[in-house]
Amino acid sequence: MCGILGYSGDRQASGILLNGLAKLEYRGYDSAGLAVLEDGEIKIVKNKGRLQALEEKIKSGYDVSGTCGIGHTRWATHGEPSEVNAHPLWSDDMSVVAVHNGIVENYREIKNKLAEHGYKFYSQTDTEAAVKLIDFFYKQEKNPLKAIIKAIKNIEGSFCFVLLFKDFPNEVWGVRKDLPLIAGQGKGESFLASDVSAILQDTRQVYYLDNMEIVQLKKGVVRFFDMEGYAKPKELSEVTWDMNAAEKGGFEHFMMKEIHEQARAVKDTFGSVYHSGKINLEEMNLSDEKIKNISQIYIIACGSAYHAGAVAQYVIEDLAKIPVRIELASEFRYRNMPLDKNALAIIISQSGETADTLAAMRRAKENGIKTLAIVNVVGSTIAREADSVFYTMAGPEIAVATTKAYSAQLIACYILAVQFAKVRGELEGSEYERLIGEIQKLPEKIDEILDEKERIEEIAYKFTNARNAFYLGRNIDYAVAMEGSLKMKEISYLHSEAIAAGEMKHGPISLIEKGMLVAGIMTQKNLYQKIASNMLEARSRGGFLFIVATRGCEALKEEADFIYNIPETDEHFAASLAVIPLQLMGYYVAVARKLDVDKPRNLAKSVTVE
Ligand code: AGP
Repeated sequence: MCGILGYSGDRQASGILLNGLAKLEYRGYDSAGLAVLEDGEIKIVKNKGRLQALEEKIKSGYDVSGTCGIGHTRWATHGEPSEVNAHPLWSDDMSVVAVHNGIVENYREIKNKLAEHGYKFYSQTDTEAAVKLIDFFYKQEKNPLKAIIKAIKNIEGSFCFVLLFKDFPNEVWGVRKDLPLIAGQGKGESFLASDVSAILQDTRQVYYLDNMEIVQLKKGVVRFFDMEGYAKPKELSEVTWDMNAAEKGGFEHFMMKEIHEQARAVKDTFGSVYHSGKINLEEMNLSDEKIKNISQIYIIACGSAYHAGAVAQYVIEDLAKIPVRIELASEFRYRNMPLDKNALAIIISQSGETADTLAAMRRAKENGIKTLAIVNVVGSTIAREADSVFYTMAGPEIAVATTKAYSAQLIACYILAVQFAKVRGELEGSEYERLIGEIQKLPEKIDEILDEKERIEEIAYKFTNARNAFYLGRNIDYAVAMEGSLKMKEISYLHSEAIAAGEMKHGPISLIEKGMLVAGIMTQKNLYQKIASNMLEARSRGGFLFIVATRGCEALKEEADFIYNIPETDEHFAASLAVIPLQLMGYYVAVARKLDVDKPRNLAKSVTVE
C-alpha cells in the first residue's frame, strides 16, 4: 500500500505534493519521491526514508519548479526500500514517468517481453515493468490515453497509476483497478490522490473513480474515459468529513479501517505468488526438491503471529503430512531442544523486528536450520536475515492490534500448506484446484461477514462492564480462540483467556460465573458436538454463550445466547472467516468502554526489546 498524488494548476506543484504526501504517509513511509513537469522536461527527486528527508533534499538546492507533478510515499512490496526502488519510476528516455500503488502480478512476464525490445531495468520494482510497458505503447500511439488503455489490458493485479508524459504539458493521467483513486476539483487546478485526506486542505469537491477508469487532469479540467477510450460524464461529490476522519478513510479508528482492508490484504497476498493458475514459490528458494526433503517444520513467532502459526500447524499437518511444532519465540530462543537438521523453520512476524522472533530465528540458523520468514515489512531485519522471505501484502498496519497482517499471514500459511501437500504427492490435482478455489473465495466471504458487523456492535455493548471472558475451541478453532481472546484483552482490557475446550473440566470451569462471556468457535464439523457439550457446561453455570459457527451448524441453535454464522468454506481455511467477528467483538467492546482503540495502554506496535 502506497500513497500517490497528482497535481495540475497554477501553483508550484512541489509544495502541494509535499503537503499531500504528509497526509498519506500512514500508507507507507520507506521512501518518497516526486516528479514535476516544466518546459518539456520532467525533474525527479526521490529518497529512501521518510518524507522529511525528501523535503530537506528539495530545500537544499534541487530545482523542482513547475506547476504540474506527481508524488509518492512508498510501502515496499517488490524490492527493498531504497532510492533506486523509490517512485517515481521512468521510461528510458523519460517520456513516461509514473507513481504506482498496488501490485503488478505479471511483472516478470512483462519485463521479459520488453527486454526483447531492448528495454533495460534498473530497479527491482514491479512498477518499472508497467511504466515501460506504457512507454512501449506510447511510442506506437503517441497518445497517452491509447497507451494507457493498451498497457492496462496487459497488466494483471490490483493497481493505481498516476503518470506524466513529457510531451503533454500541464497534464496528469491516472488509472485505477481495485485500489482507490480520487480526483479533486479546485478553481483552475485539479488533483489526484489515493484518498481525500491528501487534498482536503485544497478542495472538498471530489470525483470517485470507478474501476478501470482513466482520468486526465489539465489545470482545473478533469476528464474521465472508459477502457474503450470514450469520455465519461461523472458527478462531483462534496466531502463533509473532517481531516482526521479522512486519514482513516472515514472510519473512526485505524483498526476498523484495517479490519475492512482484510479482503484486499488476503487477495494481494494470494496474488503475489499465484500466477497463470499456479503457485510459484521459487523466489522463496523453495524448489520441489527442497520441499520434498523437509522432515519437520518449526513455526516460530510471538503474539498474533504465533496464533497464525497455530492455525498453520493444523493445516500443514493435515494437508502436507509434515510434523509441525509451533514455538513461542521467547521460549524457543532459550530452550535446548534437539533440532532436526532437515527441518524448515517458518518465522512469522508483521514488523520483522520483534526481538524474540529475531533471536529465535538466529538460533535456528546457528543450528543449521533453513529459515523462511513470513513478514509484512519489506527490508526489515528478519526479512534481511532469513534464508528466504514470503512477504505478506497487508500494507502498513497502524493500529497496535493486528488484524489485516494476521489475515495475510494465514493466507501465506495456507499457500505453503497446499503447495507442500501437492509437491509431496499428498493432494490429487482436482483437490488442489478445489482448495485453491476456496482460498480465492475468502475475500468476498470476509466482506460478507463485515456487511453484518452491526450485529456484533449491538451485542458488544452488553459487555461494557464485563470483567472476564473465555474463548473456547478445539483444533483450528482453538487457534482462532487464542487470537479472538487476545484481540479482546489487548484493546478492551477485559481479562480474557482462550482455552482448548477439552481442558475446561481440568480447572478453568471453576471460574465461570453468571453472565460471563463465553465465546465458542465452531467451524470443524467433526467437533461440533464436542464443543457444544463444553459450551452447555459453561451455560449451566451461568455463562453467556456467544457462538461463531459455520452456516449450517445446528448445534446450540436453541441454547446459545447469540450466534454469528459465517459463510461455509473448506474447514482448513475457516480461521480466516471465524476471526472476523472476534476482531469486531474486541473492537466494539473497547469502543463501548471509550478506550484508545488504536493505541492501547502499555503496548507498542513493534516489540523490539525482550
Ligand atoms: C497483536 O495484536 C499484537 N500487536 C502482538 O501480539 C503482535 O502480533 C506481536 O507482538 C508480534 O509482532 P510481529 O508480528 O511484528 O512480530
